[in-house]
Amino acid sequence: MKMQHSLFALAVATLVAGAAVAAEPEDIIKYRKNVMKATAGHMGATAAIVTGKVDYKGDLADHAKAIQALTKDTAALFPKDSDFGDTEALDAVWKKNAEFKKHAQQVKAKADAFVKVVATNDKAKIANGFKELNDSCKSCHKEFRKEQK
Ligand code: HEC
Repeated sequence: MKMQHSLFALAVATLVAGAAVAAEPEDIIKYRKNVMKATAGHMGATAAIVTGKVDYKGDLADHAKAIQALTKDTAALFPKDSDFGDTEALDAVWKKNAEFKKHAQQVKAKADAFVKVVATNDKAKIANGFKELNDSCKSCHKEFRKEQK
């Protein structure tokens, strides 16, 4: 019992200490790329359903909610010192940060709206909501991400 107790205390102490240590920029960059890739995975799956290529309509709400969760605070994925290393983020992210944040808010708003529109089951509205969401990803990439080869 005593042993268990001290192990628990150690785990808690480690967690607390871990939280206090600032993350390395390269780990943050990796993390945000994984978040972006996860979002893109759900977008791709959603596109296949919306265009009728696959018949997984029952999954649509799950993908929409996942995208909503993953885009809830895009700006937080780009802290100040995460601007160098293996990143395609342009300096503009930090130099024009107010504008960048607007794009981040925009994608959140579009993802929130998409969750609502999916619940209506209205095909045309869903297609339109998805297009607007996808456009909000693209418009941020256009201005703030290095051109993809
Ligand atoms: C507020 C701006 C912004 C928004 C909105 C945004 N992105 Fe990104 N995205 C970026 C930036 C900047 C990068 C480059 C990150 C890096 O390389 O460090 C990126 C990178 C990516 C990548 C490449 C990840 C990798 O492995 O290199 C994918 C995929 C991606 N975004 C998908 C999306 C999707 C899908 C959406 C919309 C649901 C979205 N993004 C919305 C700014 C944004």
